[in-house]
Amino acid sequence: MKLKTGPGYLILLLLVPLLFLYAFNLPVVQEADDPQELIVKGAENNPFSEENETCLRCHGEQKYELTDPVTGMVVRRPMSGSYYIDRDVFYQSVHWSFACLDCHLADYGEYPHALSLRFEPPYNCLDCHGYDETYARYKFEDIETEHLKSAHYTQTNGEFSCWNCHNPHSYQVLAREGKDIFEVVRNSNNMCLVCHGDPFKFGLVSDIEPTEIISTHNWLPNQRLHFKAVRCIDCHTEINDSLLVSHNMRPAEEAVKGCVSCHSSNSILMGTLYKYEAKESRREYGFVNSAIIRNNSYVIGANRSKLMNYGSLLIFGLTLGAVLVHTFFRIRFSKKHHNE
Ligand code: HEC
Ligand code: HEC
Ligand code: HEC
Ligand code: HEC
Ligand code: HEC
Ligand code: HEC
Ligand code: HEC
Repeated sequence: MKLKTGPGYLILLLLVPLLFLYAFNLPVVQEADDPQELIVKGAENNPFSEENETCLRCHGEQKYELTDPVTGMVVRRPMSGSYYIDRDVFYQSVHWSFACLDCHLADYGEYPHALSLRFEPPYNCLDCHGYDETYARYKFEDIETEHLKSAHYTQTNGEFSCWNCHNPHSYQVLAREGKDIFEVVRNSNNMCLVCHGDPFKFGLVSDIEPTEIISTHNWLPNQRLHFKAVRCIDCHTEINDSLLVSHNMRPAEEAVKGCVSCHSSNSILMGTLYKYEAKESRREYGFVNSAIIRNNSYVIGANRSKLMNYGSLLIFGLTLGAVLVHTFFRIRFSKKHHNE
C-alpha cells in the first residue's frame, strides 16, 4: 500500500525547492546572466583610491593648501574649475578602477608641476582599446575612422580629440547599458552642451564664437520636449548601421530637419536612439515583444527573467515525469494486486 504512491511523493518533495525558486524568482542568480552587472564601482573598490588622494587632496577640492617650505606658512588657493575632479563622479566613470598615474606621468606627484610635463601628449583611446578583443563590441577602430571624417575633426584642423567629448574623469557608457531613455538623452546631450553652451569651453577648441543652440533650433516646434526625447547626435551624425553610436558628425546643413524622418512608422530613431533596446529585446523576446517592452508597458507573459522561463520548463518536465512514474507504478502495483 505504501509503495503505491511513494515515488510520486518523492518527486513532489523534490519539486518543493524548485517551486520556491520559481515563486521568488531568485534575483541574485538572475543578474549573473550579465557579467557587466557584477562590477561594483566606487572608491572603496579601487585599490588605488588612497594613492589617488595624493592628487585629489588638491584636484578634488575647491581650494587646495600650499605650504611655504621655508616659513611653514599655509595658504589656501582656489582650484580652477577645469582642473577640478569630482571624486564621486570619477569613481563611477568607465575608468573608475584607475590610478591617476596610469594615465598621468609620475612626475605629477610633485608640485609645482614641471613645465615639461605639459608637453607630453596624452594617451588616446586607441592606445589602450584598439584591436583588443575585450572591447571588440564597441568597435573603437571604426569609431575612430568615423571621427576622423567628422565636422569636429576637419573644422578644427584635427585638434578635436575623443577626450573633448569623452571627459577622461567622468565619462560613462549610456545607451548600451539600456538605462532609462530620458536619462540616456539627457546625459548624451550634456556631452555636447557643456561645450556648445559654454563660450569659454568652446573657445578652448575654436577661435570662432559658438552659436546659440536654442535660437538656431527655433524651427523645431516643442523644442524642450524634443531635446528631452531625442539626442543631438540623432540629427547630427550620419547613420552607421554597424555602430551603436554613429560618430561622423556632419556639418549643420546636412542635419536631419524633416519631421517624417522620425514621425513615421520607419523612424530613423529605430536605427539610432532605440537601436540597442530594439536589438537586445528582439534577440531575447522576439519581435512583437520587443516593441512592447521598448515602450516599457507592462505586458503579462513578457517577463524579463530567463531563470523563470527555464524554471517553468523544468517544473513542467518534472511534473510530466512524476505523472508518468506515478502512472507506471500504479499500473504495475495494481496488476500485482490483482494477480495475488
Ligand atoms: C598641491 C596641490 C596639487 C597636487 C598635490 C597635485 N596637483 Fe596637479 N595641479 C595643481 C594645480 C594648482 C594645477 C593648475 C596648473 C598649475 O598650477 O600648475 C595643476 C595642474 C595639473 C595638470 C594639468 C597640467 C596642464 O596640462 O596644464 C595635471 C594633468 C595634473 N595637475 C595632474 C596631477 C596629478 C596626476 C597629481 C597627483 C599625482 C597632481 N596633479 C597633484 C595642483 C596640484
Ligand atoms: C583614463 C586616463 C585618465 C585617468 C585615469 C586620469 N586622467 Fe586626468 N587626464 C587624462 C587626459 C587624457 C587628460 C587631458 C584631457 C584633454 O586634453 O582634454 C587629463 C587631464 C587632466 C587634468 C587637466 C585638466 C584638463 O582639462 O586638461 C588634470 C588636473 C587631471 N587630468 C588630473 C587627474 C587626476 C587627479 C586623476 C586621478 C583622480 C586623473 N587625472 C585620472 C586622462 C586620465
Ligand atoms: C590608459 C589606457 C586607457 C585609455 C587611454 C582609455 N581607456 Fe577606456 N578603459 C581602459 C581599461 C583598462 C578599462 C576597464 C576598466 C575597468 O572596468 O576596470 C576601460 C574601460 C572603458 C570602457 C568600458 C568598457 C566596459 O565594457 O566596461 C569604455 C566605454 C571606455 N573605456 C572608453 C574609452 C574611451 C572612449 C577612451 C578615450 C576617450 C578611453 N576609454 C581611453 C583603458 C583605457
Ligand atoms: C562630438 C562628440 C564625440 C566625439 C568627438 C567622440 N565621441 Fe564617442 N560618443 C559620443 C556620444 C554622445 C556617445 C554616446 C554615449 C552613450 O550613449 O554611451 C559616444 C559613445 C562612444 C562609445 C560607446 C559606444 C557603444 O557602442 O556603447 C565609444 C566606445 C566611443 N564613443 C569612443 C569614441 C572614440 C574612440 C572617439 C575618438 C576617435 C570618440 N568616441 C569621439 C560623442 C563623441
Ligand atoms: C531634430 C533634429 C535636431 C536636433 C535634435 C538637434 N539639432 Fe542641431 N541642427 C539641426 C538642423 C536641421 C540644423 C541646421 C539649422 C539650419 O540650418 O537652419 C542644426 C544646427 C546646429 C548647429 C549649427 C548652428 C549654426 O548656426 O551653424 C549646431 C552647432 C547644432 N545644431 C548643435 C546641436 C546640439 C548641441 C544639439 C543637442 C542639444 C542639437 N543640435 C540637436 C537639427 C537638430
Ligand atoms: C569641446 C567642445 C565641443 C563639444 C563637446 C562638441 N562640439 Fe560640436 N563643435 C565644436 C566646435 C569648436 C565646432 C566647429 C566650429 C567651427 O569652427 O566651425 C563644432 C561644430 C559642430 C557642428 C557643425 C556646425 C557647422 O557649422 O557645420 C555640429 C552639428 C556640432 N558641432 C554638434 C555637436 C554635437 C551634436 C556634439 C555632442 C555629441 C558636439 N557638437 C560636441 C565644439 C564642440
Ligand atoms: C530626430 C527625430 C525627430 C525629428 C526630426 C522631429 N521629431 Fe518631433 N518628436 C520626436 C520625439 C522622439 C518626440 C517625443 C515623442 C513623445 O514623447 O511622445 C517628438 C515630439 C513631437 C511633438 C509633440 C508631440 C506631443 O505628444 O506633444 C510634436 C508636435 C512634434 N514632435 C513635431 C515635430 C515637427 C513638426 C518636426 C519637424 C519640424 C519634428 N517633430 C521633427 C522626434 C523627432
